[in-house]
Amino acid sequence: MQVKTTKGVAVPSGYVRVVFDVKGSERLVVSGKTMELHLVTGKLDKVTHRTFRTMVREIVVSAKKHKLAKVAIEFDFSKFKGLADRGEDWMWQNIAENLHLANYEFVKYKSKAPKVVLKEILLTNVGKSASKAIAHGETVATYANKCRDIANTTGGDMTPELLGKAAKDILKGTKATVKVLDEKQIAKLKMGGILGVGQGAQAKPRFIIIEYKGKAKKSAGPIVFVGKGITFDTGGLQVKPGMSMYEMHMDMSGGASVIGALGAIAKLGLPGHFIGLIPAAENAISGTAMRPGDVLTMMSGTTVDVLHTDAEGRLVLADALHYARQYKPRLVIDVATLTGAALVAVGQHANVIMTKDRELEDTLRDLGEESGDYTFPLPLWDEYKAHTKGVNADIANIPSSNSSYGGSINGGMFLAHFTKDLLWAHIDMAPRMTSTLSDKLAKGATGEPVRLLVKIAERL
Ligand code: BES
Ligand code: MN
Ligand code: ZN
Repeated sequence: MQVKTTKGVAVPSGYVRVVFDVKGSERLVVSGKTMELHLVTGKLDKVTHRTFRTMVREIVVSAKKHKLAKVAIEFDFSKFKGLADRGEDWMWQNIAENLHLANYEFVKYKSKAPKVVLKEILLTNVGKSASKAIAHGETVATYANKCRDIANTTGGDMTPELLGKAAKDILKGTKATVKVLDEKQIAKLKMGGILGVGQGAQAKPRFIIIEYKGKAKKSAGPIVFVGKGITFDTGGLQVKPGMSMYEMHMDMSGGASVIGALGAIAKLGLPGHFIGLIPAAENAISGTAMRPGDVLTMMSGTTVDVLHTDAEGRLVLADALHYARQYKPRLVIDVATLTGAALVAVGQHANVIMTKDRELEDTLRDLGEESGDYTFPLPLWDEYKAHTKGVNADIANIPSSNSSYGGSINGGMFLAHFTKDLLWAHIDMAPRMTSTLSDKLAKGATGEPVRLLVKIAERL
């Protein structure tokens, strides 16, 4: 699908005009010689930055439903009074982003390539000044969609090795470099967390390092993004029951979002220095798998009681977060499908964020609204520290009391142990791993939080 623009206000022949309708139901209307697609939007001056995004997505969803090939639509910024404080560039970028996000479908495993019906969306009455914001939005959405492709791919087709290949593919042709460390190199670095989690699988772990340096920025030190890359999470010997294993090929969604974000950052040529680190491993079940009660020695030297083999994400992330220190980063952000408890806490509508820095917490909430990858905080207070207390080792990967209260925070507190003296935030994206009905997105991966990470790269 192509997004085109024209200065004119008239809708050329061959296009179905989209009409924002206040009441009734979404429908196709023939009026005179032209056809109109009526979208029920309510009053335009009541549209918020949030409903604007779903409204834009609905254009694509409805056009596809009615098998339309070419639709034309006019956005008159003056009518969207609720967007006044966001600005016109924000509107154009969000139009471009959400049209492409809504158009995405995962077709890799369809035996016949589905026929593409919707070919073009024509934005009418668009001035020259909009073109930069539109192009920007198209780039961000393109990379968010690449992230969705990686995340949607089955566990057998996206092993740690293949995840490394996907990263190289996506960053190809940009100024970014990709290095993929194999198991031997990981062992040399003494990354006991990655090795322990990966030791039961036939597909061996990898450590993916992406680096991109744009024009120098005033602020010293790079921003490091760390993404959980569990290519399949069986739960390990403490195997996941029944359907809770079903979508666990998507347990590398954090890693996929870091790959996608670095792709967009490099493609956009943003100023600054950015690193992406993805500890990739399969949490499998076999005679060589790590056992409950095993003790791992992490890269940092900290020893960890593996009290639960299904709390594996924090083990691989701990090594990556420790590895990040060598860059003397000014900010570290990890993204992970870390806990089912995050879904219990916030449902499916927010990425859970945790940081000990109040200013960073507020910034991440604001950038969530700004980008569309919404965020909501949970605490990382010292009161929770007791939950990471070790039995035989220094710390444990779940509370030794086996309490499941505050499960997401326990994961965050474990990671906090490896990020002391760093400006760091943790994004538990488990709630946003797959789309929900009101998202108006294809089933499966959402491509979150690629938009947020790009926004962080632009603003921080
Ligand atoms: N990958 C899962 C968390 C998850 C669950 C992500 C559902 C997306 C959807 C993670 O590795 C896990 O298994 N966490 C456990 C932790 C527990 C053993 C402390 C969980 O959430 O049950
Ligand atoms: Mn798990
Ligand atoms: Zn997991």
